[in-house]
Amino acid sequence: MIADTETVITQPAAGEYFGFSSICTHQGCPVATVTAEHIICPCHSSHYDTRTGEPVAGPADQPLTPRSITVTETEVEYS
Ligand code: FES
Repeated sequence: MIADTETVITQPAAGEYFGFSSICTHQGCPVATVTAEHIICPCHSSHYDTRTGEPVAGPADQPLTPRSITVTETEVEYS
C-alpha cells in the first residue's frame, strides 16, 4: 500500500503484480488489507479481487480503478 499516492499494489503470485486505486468504490475509505486473493476495505468489508480489482464480496459494486505500474528488479513505478 502506498498511502500518499492512494495506490495499492498486489502480488497474487510470484512475479505477478497489479496496481489499483486504494480508494474503496463503496464510500471512499482507503482499503487496508491485502491477501493473496483479496483487497479488503475495513469500513464495510468490501473485498476486491487482487488480479482484476472487481468486487467479490461486501457492498461495493464497482471495481477499484486500475493503476499502471512497472516493476523492475529494484523498484515499482506507478502512474
Ligand atoms: S467504504 Fe469500503 S466497504 Fe464501504
